Amino acid sequence: MVRIARVSHKKSFRDRVIAPSLLAADFSKTGDEVRRAVAAGADWMHLDVMDGHFVDNISFGPAMVETVNRASDIFLDVHLMISRPDHYLQRFIAAGSDLITVHVEADHDVAATLRRIRAAGLQVGLALNPATPIAAVEPFLDQIDLLLCMTVVPGFGGQAFMPEVLEKITSAAGIREMRGLSYHIEVDGGIDALTAAPCYDAGANVMVAGSSTFRASDMAAAVAAIRTA
Ligand code: DX5
Ligand code: ZN
Repeated sequence: MVRIARVSHKKSFRDRVIAPSLLAADFSKTGDEVRRAVAAGADWMHLDVMDGHFVDNISFGPAMVETVNRASDIFLDVHLMISRPDHYLQRFIAAGSDLITVHVEADHDVAATLRRIRAAGLQVGLALNPATPIAAVEPFLDQIDLLLCMTVVPGFGGQAFMPEVLEKITSAAGIREMRGLSYHIEVDGGIDALTAAPCYDAGANVMVAGSSTFRASDMAAAVAAIRTA
């Protein structure tokens, strides 16, 4: 079953996209939290899937993607921080993901996994951790719609932004320009209005923010502040 990507959500890498991370939401009222994020101006919902193996934490699986999909038609940006994304891929596709991002460091045939996401009609994302050099993803840049440059060591929300990743973002934007590619550059971890600004300047356009949005006293103001940073 090829899922027809929701064209209404089509954004270019020149658009600023705000993607609150569900990880920071109150899971006891997930549906209300998703609707609160939509009302606050969120463009995408970022779902941080963790398997307790690739990262030292466990969050949620395909059932949460289904839950969010029932609560809203917001674009679902699913970030698989799992060791075997190929093994679970079909379940995340069937659950209603719009974009699936897998880690280059995980234990799979990266090109094959990217092809499968594309073949299912979803948008394709590739992520790299702060310590992973841009060279590790260069062979795949012409096969993706989004490059996720982690700005914290993945596993937990609420960590401090790592400014040393800015150089990698600049490189990724430079390669995109030089090769005439069009992938989004997404950042994830410690993003708020202050840290978003240098990320935009370096060439990133998709801001994943958990603590700074869901935990803000005024979520709409927090989303707007990141968008205009
Ligand atoms: C990886 C997770 C977190 C989360 C964002 O650990 O992906 O980065 O999304 O967390 P905040 O925005 O609270 O730093
Ligand atoms: Zn994430």
